[in-house]
Amino acid sequence: MSPDEGPVGPAGGEADAARPAGTAGPANRAAAASTAGSTSTTGTAGTTGRTGSGRQPAASAGPPADAGSRGRVDGAGAGYGEALFEPWKPGEGERIDLGSMAYDTFTRARLLALGAGPGTRCLDIGAGTGTISRWLAGEAGVDEVLAVDRDVRFLEPLAGGALRTLAADVTEPGFAPGRFDLVHARFVLMHLPEHRRVAARLCELLNPGGRLVLGDAVDLTTAAPPDTPYRLAMRAMWQALRSTIGTDISWTPEYPRLLRDLGLTEIGAEIQVPALTAGSPIGAFWLETWERTREAMLATGLVDAGLLAEAAESITSGSVADLSPGLVTAWGRRP
Ligand SMILES: C[S@@+](CC[C@H](N)C(=O)[O-])C[C@H]1O[C@@H](n2cnc3c(N)ncnc32)[C@H](O)[C@@H]1O
Repeated sequence: MSPDEGPVGPAGGEADAARPAGTAGPANRAAAASTAGSTSTTGTAGTTGRTGSGRQPAASAGPPADAGSRGRVDGAGAGYGEALFEPWKPGEGERIDLGSMAYDTFTRARLLALGAGPGTRCLDIGAGTGTISRWLAGEAGVDEVLAVDRDVRFLEPLAGGALRTLAADVTEPGFAPGRFDLVHARFVLMHLPEHRRVAARLCELLNPGGRLVLGDAVDLTTAAPPDTPYRLAMRAMWQALRSTIGTDISWTPEYPRLLRDLGLTEIGAEIQVPALTAGSPIGAFWLETWERTREAMLATGLVDAGLLAEAAESITSGSVADLSPGLVTAWGRRP
C-alpha cells in the first residue's frame, strides 16, 4: 500500500541474508559488546542529551543514573528500557537484532526509495543496536547519520566515518539535534505515550523537502480467533506492555492521518507482515520478548504458565503457522 510511491517489495527475500557484512547482529553482538565503552563518539550541540564524547558502559554494565526516572501514563511507572527491555540485561541486544533481521529488508528498501543516499543527512531515532544507522552510513552511502538513543551502549562501537551517536531522550522538550533530510524512527513511538508530540517534534527537525519515516507494529491477527496458544500469549503480551511501559499499537494505522495533520505532503504507507513459521527470526524474537515480559504477561490474568509454555513450544516445534505482528511504515515530505 504505497499511495504515492508504488509498492516496494523485499529487496532480498530472507531478512538475514540482507544483513550487510559487519552489521552488528547476533553473530557479532558479543564482539561489539566487548568493545563498547572504548569508542569515542561526537555528539551534537543544542540537545539536552548526553553527547557521546565520553565513554559509555559496556553492554553488561548496569542502568544509567537516570534509569527509572521517566513517568508513564496511568501511573504505570517507568518506560521502555526501564521496567522492561533494560539494555544492560544479558541478551537484550540480541533480542533487538532478531527483530531487525525480520524487518530490516523492508525498511532499507523504503529508505532507498525515499532517497537515502549520497548527499543526505539522516537522523535515526531510538536506533537500538544500529542496524539501520550502520546500513545508512555504509551501503546506502549517506553523508551523515546521527544515531540517537536513550542508551547508546550498542551504538558506540559502530561510531566512526559518517555515523555519529548521541545519547538523548527524544521526549525531552529541549531535544534539538539539528536539521536533517531524512528522519527515521522504527519501533519507538509505539512505546511513547507522547507519540503525537514527538512526531511533531521530528517534523520540525526536517529540512524543507526532507522526509519523515515512521515505523511501528501493527497486529492483524492475534486479537482475533482462533484462540491458539500463540494468539492468547500475544494478546497477553500487548496488554502487559501497555500496563507496564505504556506501549500502545492501537493508533499505528492512523499514521497517514497523523503525518498529514502535521503538515507533511506526499504521504505514503505500507505494511509488511512476516510469517511466523518454524525457524523464522521473528519467532525467536517473540520467544525472547515473551521471556522478558513473562511476569507482566502472567499478571494480566489472560495466560498462565502452562499456556505460555504451550505457546513457546508451538514456536520452537514449528507447529505454529500464523502471521506475526507486522511493520507499518508511513512517510511524508516537509514542504
Ligand atoms: C524496540 S527498540 C527499536 C530499535 C531500532 N529502532 C530497531 O528498529 O531495531 C526501541 C529503541 O528505542 C529506544 N528508546 C525508547 N524510548 C526512547 C526515548 N524516549 N528516547 C530515545 N530513545 C528511546 C530504546 O532505548 C531502544 O533502543
